[in-house]
Amino acid sequence: MPVDPQHPPVCDYEGSDYQQSFWEQGGRAYEDGAEAVALRRLLPKSGRLLLEVGAGAGRNTPRYAGFERIVLMDYSTTQMQQAQARLGRSEKYIYVAADVYRLPFAPGLFDAATMIRVLHHMAEPEKALARVRAALQPGATFILEFANKHNLKAILRYLLRRQSWSPFTLEPVEYLPLNFDFHPRAVRGYLKNAGFAIGRILTVSHYRIGFLKRWVPTRLLVWLDSLASLTGPLWQLSPSVFVRATTSGTTPVAAPGAFFICPECATPLPDEKDAVLVCPNGHRWGVQDGIYNFKDMLG
Ligand SMILES: C[S@@+](CC[C@H](N)C(=O)[O-])C[C@H]1O[C@@H](n2cnc3c(N)ncnc32)[C@H](O)[C@@H]1O
Repeated sequence: MPVDPQHPPVCDYEGSDYQQSFWEQGGRAYEDGAEAVALRRLLPKSGRLLLEVGAGAGRNTPRYAGFERIVLMDYSTTQMQQAQARLGRSEKYIYVAADVYRLPFAPGLFDAATMIRVLHHMAEPEKALARVRAALQPGATFILEFANKHNLKAILRYLLRRQSWSPFTLEPVEYLPLNFDFHPRAVRGYLKNAGFAIGRILTVSHYRIGFLKRWVPTRLLVWLDSLASLTGPLWQLSPSVFVRATTSGTTPVAAPGAFFICPECATPLPDEKDAVLVCPNGHRWGVQDGIYNFKDMLG
C-alpha cells in the first residue's frame, strides 16, 4: 500500500491489552529477561532525561532508573494510562501521547532515547528515526531494538521453500499489516542516514522456541541467551537485535526551559494553563489526568 509521506500509517494500540495478553499471560518471561540483559549492557548507568519511544504500558521503564527523568511517549493514550497506573504519577515520569512521526519535543532536548519493539510497526522507519534524532542532543545514546528478517528460522524456511520472501534482501517484510521485520544491514543504513553512529550490537532471543521455553528453566535460558548475544557484532541471526547508537554531527542543544513544541507547526509551546497548551499559531493541546495529549488537537 503506498504511504502518504505527510501521515505515515500508525499501528494503533488504543484500547489494547497488549501488556497483559502478550507479556503477562503470553509466556514471554524468557524474552523479557533477555531484553533486560541487553538493556543493562547497553544503557548508560545514569543520565538526565531519557525519551522512551513507544513505551506501551511501561514494561521497560523501571530499567531506566539511573535517569533523573523519563518521558514515556506512545501513540496510544490507553497505553499511557496503563503505564501511569503501573508507575504512578511523580516528578520522575512524564506521560505523552504522540506520534513518533510528529514528535512534540524541542530539538536537542534529550540525552538518551530507547525504542524497543516499535520500529516493527514503522512503514517509514527512516523518517521515524530522523524524528528521534532531532529530539536528541549531540553525543546522546539511542538504543534501538528491531525485529530481524535475517533470522535463522526464516533462512531455513526460505531454503526449504516453505517461505516465499527472501531473508537476504534489504527491503522490509510486512508479514502482517503494519508489522515489519527488517534486515540488519538496512537498519544500520537507516540509522546512519538519520544521523547516528552505530555502536555495540547485541543479538537477543536466540532460543525463542516453544519446547525450549517450556523445558529449560527461564533463568538458564536467559543466561544462555546472554552468552549467544555477544556474537552480535559478528553476525545477526536471532529474531531480535539491539543496537546502541550515538548521535553524530553538531546539532544544537535545547535552550534551558525549552521542552514541548507544537506537533502541528513545530513552534515552541508555552507552559500549560488550565490543562491546555496553546501555540502562537493557535493550535491547542490538552493535558488530562497527567497525560499530555499531542495526538488529538483541541477544537
Ligand atoms: C509492541 S508495543 C511495544 C511496547 C513497549 N516498547 C514494550 O516493549 O513493551 C509497540 C508500541 O508502539 C506504539 N506505537 C506504534 N506506532 C507508534 C507511533 N507512530 N508513534 C508512537 N508510538 C507508536 C504502540 O502504541 C505500542 O504501544
